[in-house]
Order: sequence, then structure tokens, then C-alpha cells
Amino acid sequence: MTARRIGVVGAGYVGLTTAACLAHLGHVVHCVDTAAPRVARLRRGSVDIEEPRLAQLVSAGLRAGRLLFDTRLDTVAGCGIVVLCLPTPSGRGGAPDLRSVVSVAEAVAHVVTGPVVLVVKSTVPPGTAAALQRSAGDGPVDVVSNPEFLREGRSVDDFLRPDRIVVGGRRAEAVAAVVEMYHDISAPVIRTDWASAELAKYACNGFLAVKASYTNELADLCEAVGADVRDVTAVMAADPRIGRHFLAPGPGWGGSCLPKDTRGLLDTADRAGAVFDTVRAAVEANAHHRARLVRVVTEALTGDPEGELHGHRIGILGLTFKAGTDDTRDSPAVAVVQDLCARGATVTAYDPACGSRRAAAVDHDGAFQVVDEPLLAAKSASVIVVLTEWPEFRTIDWAAALREVVRPLVVDARNVLDPAVVTAGGFSYRGIGRP
Ligand SMILES: NC(=O)c1ccc[n+]([C@@H]2O[C@H](COP(=O)([O-])OP(=O)(O)OC[C@H]3O[C@@H](n4cnc5c(N)ncnc54)[C@H](O)[C@@H]3O)[C@@H](O)[C@H]2O)c1
Repeated sequence: MTARRIGVVGAGYVGLTTAACLAHLGHVVHCVDTAAPRVARLRRGSVDIEEPRLAQLVSAGLRAGRLLFDTRLDTVAGCGIVVLCLPTPSGRGGAPDLRSVVSVAEAVAHVVTGPVVLVVKSTVPPGTAAALQRSAGDGPVDVVSNPEFLREGRSVDDFLRPDRIVVGGRRAEAVAAVVEMYHDISAPVIRTDWASAELAKYACNGFLAVKASYTNELADLCEAVGADVRDVTAVMAADPRIGRHFLAPGPGWGGSCLPKDTRGLLDTADRAGAVFDTVRAAVEANAHHRARLVRVVTEALTGDPEGELHGHRIGILGLTFKAGTDDTRDSPAVAVVQDLCARGATVTAYDPACGSRRAAAVDHDGAFQVVDEPLLAAKSASVIVVLTEWPEFRTIDWAAALREVVRPLVVDARNVLDPAVVTAGGFSYRGIGRP
């Protein structure tokens, strides 16, 4: 293989992982981000994203001189490949906002000094790569779609040991250059066209959303008929046609990708005049499921699912959208907290990965605070609600928590706790989808 000089634009979850891993594979990587404080920290080897092994790979890349950080896009001028890992948040009507992808793609075309393969790793709707190529014309820029499938919490491992690498392009040489960039990574490579590669990413996330909504509605049905969702999903998981992932019920799905990508997929279908009612139903079911959890908590406290929560303090365990990450973007836990605050509750939350620095993202007129110990979240609480499946919640000292609360009640919206342990500590326990 030939080590290449590669540009990576965007140093967030995907970009920093991509840059650090490509440097680890032997390439020289110029990583560009407009966030100057983040770039300054990265140059010192300080990584503010919680991902296993990421900080070590960044330090190793810096030491080896193969990983360079800058705020100036012209530092990618001599790169034969430039990978775009830019945000594509939901814009108006659900369509993703592609402005940073489009503007950086145009800027790259101006700064490069020779032929360049422009790799779109951001999640974008079908038609984006083709449009970027049209605007680049027949000049030195070859656009290739290379959607990213890494999961937060295991981004480095997923990048270095992916289930598949998808490369969509028009010119075989450009596609081959991108495949070659992943030398030493053993994974099936699916070569395809631009639109198929782009749609494949949406298709995966849309499917996962459907599966998660199915599981959450199944949990509600289990409660209604006296079944145990853990046993029901164990039976499902044993069937290889179904698979074991996304079968754990929770407070609703969220995170930085599934909500925006389902919106993007539905917008794509609408524009194409196609029907995609399964995904639409999954999105609606998710909203209902989340609202139901708020009603369950409200009823437990007031006897009325639609009651007001003024005067009630609620202890929350977990704010991130899943365990193993510090990401609270579009977290269902945050949405539940906001709904509880809107009903008048005051909320004290503990999360192992996000302390008070994240509180601003959730703040609700001072009715919400983040604490650094689980027992502080229990203080004066009328109910403790578990919203993220952090394994460390299993080791909470419930007898000690009992001394803090005003009412010994736990609602475990992730089924992460052992009911026998919680009840032995003197609490009433309510799981989800369990008799
Ligand atoms: N986070 C995930 O788990 C994940 C997984 C697969 C795909 N994706 C997709 O990858 C893309 C990036 O997601 P992310 O989670 O890494 O986002 P992020 O918000 O963590 O990172 C984006 C970075 O880009 C930088 N940036 C913004 N505009 C810029 C510009 N004009 N020039 C240079 N830098 C700029 C920001 O400062 C930020 O550091 C999105 O399209 C997302 O849907 C994300």
C-alpha cells in the first residue's frame, strides 16, 4: 500500500475518529476544523470527546508527526484525498442542512493544487454527491460517497473493524483510491453508485428506528397482557433473521443520528413521491412512547397520568442518549427531563459522562440541575427515574439512597437494575414491559 497525504475536514465524533484512525493506518492526515479552541486543544493532544482509545490514537499520531490539526482549509491543498466529516443537522421541514458540506466542497476545489478525491463521509440525502460533482465540473475534483456507520461509544473499534465499507462513485480510479485508503482493514467492500451509497446509510438508520419503535411498543403490550419483554425479546433474538440488537426497550430512541436521519429519509421519500409509511409510523410511535413514560411517572406521583408535578423533585439517572458516550444531542433522556420540568417538576440529574458543563443544553428555567454523584440525585426525590443504561447504576447503594429520598420509588425505563437489589434496599421498583 501507499501511505497518502489525506485531508479530513471536521474534527467531531466522526472526523476526529477518521483522522486518528487514518494516521494509525500510516497515512499523513491534515485535520481541519473551524472550532479554534478544539483545534488548539487537539494540537496539545487533549481530546474532549469520550471515546475508548481515541485519545491514545491522537497522541500517537501527533508524536509520529502523522496527525496535524489546523483551522485553515488551505492546509489540505497538497492532499490527494479530502474526507468531509461535517455536520448535516436537520433543516427546515426535515431536510438536512447541507450548507457546510456544500461550502467546504467548493472551497476545497479552490485550494487544491492537483487532482483530488473528495470523499463525503457525512450522512447526506441521495443526489448530494451528484450535485457536488456537477458544481465541481470536470476539473480536478472527483466526488466519492463513503458513508460512515460507526457507533458512538465504540467509534475507533467500529472504524478499524467495520462490518462493511461502502464506496459509491462514478469513476473507478477514484473509488479504488478510497478503497486503498482503508488498506489493512479487513471488511467486505461494497462498491456502488453515489445514490445507492447515500441511500444505504439512511436505509440502515431508518430500519434501526423501526426496530427500536417496534421493541418499545412491544414493551407496552407486554405490560398490558402480563408478559415479560425480556423473555419475549430473548425469543426474538434467538432468530438470526431478527438479530439481537435494538431489542431492549427504553425511553424512546434518539441521539445525533436516528432522529435527523429518519427525518432526512422521509423528506427524501416525499420529494421522490414515494411512500415510506413504516418509518413515519416509527417516528410517531417514538413520540407516543416517550410521552407515555412521562405519564407513567406522573401517575406514580400524583395518581393522575395528566397531573401536575409542582412540588415534586425527581431524581434522574442518565442523560446521554445511550451508555458509553458523553453525547446528549437529541437524547430521549433530555426530552423526558424537559417534559417533566414542563409539568412543574424540579429535576436533579446524574450521568457518569456529563457533569454540570452539559447542563446548559437542558436547562429549564432553573428547574433542572446536574450533580456529580448518584446519591445527590436522590436527595429529596419523590421518584428516581433511570433513563440511560449505564451499567454502574447497578452498583448504587439503595439503602443509602433510601436515606435521601422523600419517597422510595424507582422507575427503571431501561430495565438496567436488578429489581431484587432495589427492593432489598427498601424501594418500590417499576421496570418497563415487565409484569
Ligand atoms: N456521530 C455519529 O455517531 C455519526 C455516525 C455516522 C455518521 N455520522 C454523520 O457524520 C457527520 C458528522 O457527524 P459528527 O457527529 O461527527 O458531528 P460533530 O458535530 O461531532 O462534528 C462536526 C465538526 O465539524 C466542524 N465544522 C463545522 N463546520 C465546519 C466547517 N465549515 N469547516 C470545518 N469544520 C467544521 C465542527 O466544529 C465539529 O467539530 C454527520 O453528517 C453525521 O450524520 C455521525
